[in-house]
Parts: sequence; C-alpha cells; structure tokens
Amino acid sequence: MSDNTDTPVTVIGLGLMGQALAGAFLKAGHPTTVWNRTASKADRLVAGGARLAPTIGDALAAGPLAIICITDYHAVRELLDADGAELGGVTLINLTSGTSAQARAAAEWAEQRGARYLDGAIMALPAAIGTVEAVILHSGSRSDFDAHAPTLGALGTVTYLGPDHGLASLYDVAGLAMMWSVLNAWLLGTALVRTAGVDAATFAPFARQIAAGVAEWLPGHAEQIDAGAFPAEASALETDARAMAHLVEESEAVGVNAELPRLIKAMADRSIAAGHGKEQYPVLIEEFSRQRGD
Ligand SMILES: NC(=O)c1ccc[n+]([C@@H]2O[C@H](COP(=O)([O-])OP(=O)(O)OC[C@H]3O[C@@H](n4cnc5c(N)ncnc54)[C@H](OP(=O)(O)O)[C@@H]3O)[C@@H](O)[C@H]2O)c1
Repeated sequence: MSDNTDTPVTVIGLGLMGQALAGAFLKAGHPTTVWNRTASKADRLVAGGARLAPTIGDALAAGPLAIICITDYHAVRELLDADGAELGGVTLINLTSGTSAQARAAAEWAEQRGARYLDGAIMALPAAIGTVEAVILHSGSRSDFDAHAPTLGALGTVTYLGPDHGLASLYDVAGLAMMWSVLNAWLLGTALVRTAGVDAATFAPFARQIAAGVAEWLPGHAEQIDAGAFPAEASALETDARAMAHLVEESEAVGVNAELPRLIKAMADRSIAAGHGKEQYPVLIEEFSRQRGD
C-alpha cells in the first residue's frame, strides 16, 4: 500500500468507481483534487477533504498525476479534447474499461498531446478499492509506472504488465472470460443436478472442488501450449469427446439448456476432425485462436 502520502493526485470522473478511487487516495492521505461532469457527485469527497476543481483544465493542472475513470473511451476523448484540457507534463492513467485497440489509440493520442500515458484496468468492485483484494492492472512505460506505483498502491494491488498499452485491457477481458466461463459451467451443472432435486447449495461445494482441481492443471497445460506439443499424458481429446457426448445427451434428456454442451463438443469434434484426437485437451487452443465466420 501507499507510503508516499503527500503526492498530490487528481481523479477525473466520480461515478461509482471514481468516487471509490478518490476516497482511497484521500484515506491514504494524498492531497486529492477531483472533477466530475456532474459536480454534486463530489460533495461527499469534498466533505472528506478533497478539492473540487472548477474545470477539467484546472483538474489536470493540479498536479503531476491524473487518474481518469469514466464510462468509456469515447467519453474520455470527448472530455479531454475540450478547450482548456492541457495534457502537457501530466501523467494520465486511464482506468476506464475498453478494448486493447482503444487503449493503444488513446496512448498515441495522449502522447501526441504531451502527456505521459498509462492504461489500466480495474478488476474489482468499488467496495474493494483501497484493499489488497482490488487488482488493478497497468500497461505502458515501465518508468512511468514505477514513478507512480507507490501512490497507486493506495488503490489496491497494482500490477505492471508490460510496455504495450493494450495489455491491461486484454488481461481485463481475458479475466472476464475466465469468470463468466466458470460461472456458466457452474450454472449448467446446477441446472443438471436440480432436475434430480439437488439444490444449488448442496452442489456448490462439489463444483468448487472441481474448479479448484482444474485450476491446478493450468501450469502444465500452459507448458504444452507454449511448446506447441500436446502429448496425451492424462487423457486424449477423443476420450474427452465421448464424455462430452454424455453431457449433451444428458442435458437434452433432462430438459436443460444444451447450447453450452453442444458448443464444447463441437469444438472438440472440429479438432478431432483436424487430426488431434490422440492429443491432449490444450490442443484446443488452435480452435480458440482462430476466428470463425459463423
Ligand atoms: N463499477 C464497477 O464495479 C467497475 C468495475 C471495474 C471497472 N469499472 C469501470 O470504471 C468505469 C466507470 O464505471 P462506474 O461504475 O464509475 O460508472 P458510473 O457510475 O456510471 O459513472 C460514469 C462516470 O462517467 C462520467 N461520464 C460519462 N460520460 C461522460 C462524458 N461524456 N463526459 C464526462 N464525464 C462522463 C459520469 O459523469 P456524470 O456523473 O456527470 O454522469 C460518471 O462520472 C467504467 O469504464 C467501468 O467499466 C467499473
């Protein structure tokens, strides 16, 4: 967590997340300037010691470090393109969610305007900001990150990913893919066992054990992917595909939604048709790594 608490910080955008960010800087003792399109959202922070900048230009001029966190990148560009929004000499950290292409374009645009630019992604809810549970990812210049990491530490667990400004956004969506995939698998499993009268709470500990067990496989599977070699050390894909057929059949028979089982099986079937049936499951990376037209 932060240990240089006299560094001034500006927070632009005081929605649910921006208020949490500004609140964490204040709590850590940083002189905190805030700005929001709807000024009244600053009231609670001002009562807690923040200074409300009258204009976006004033907010940017208040110190060397400005964090922006608003709805999307279009709003960021619109706001910072406004008259008087001078970026020269500011380190701008954009914690707004978006795509890697938007992050790279924003970096180029901000740097042309004289800013130092780091992109970031917040993998936490507002209530977690200011605790170690809040994971905040950054990408861009290493030296810019290092210069501000002690200050950013007031927000949570801050991590530097690399110089490509798009990395934080890519990790963000990759993390969301993990989250929704695990949750969807759990919901499907729950729907299946509920057809036999088992409630969600009874199934949850079993599901959790499976998820934790599968997580243990990731380092070994990652080694296969990075090596581009998929020897079937534990199970061949064609063996998995037979179990997938049971999943599809069971889902259809008991009347639960079989879309996800069919997708899982279709991907394995394509890989087997391409000659990978005797290889191990991570060979499916080839299916995930190419776009499909349908
Ligand atoms: N909330 C979360 O759990 C969470 C978690 C991770 C990441 N994030 C990301 O954090 C960002 C902000 O989310 P939020 O939850 O704080 O959203 P929010 O509560 O809806 O707040 C949106 C903020 O954007 C401002 N804004 C929108 N359009 C603007 C424009 N054209 N010009 C100036 N300001 C504009 C709003 O100003 P007004 O107050 O004037 O409307 C407000 O400050 C998003 O990119 C979101 O994906 C949020």
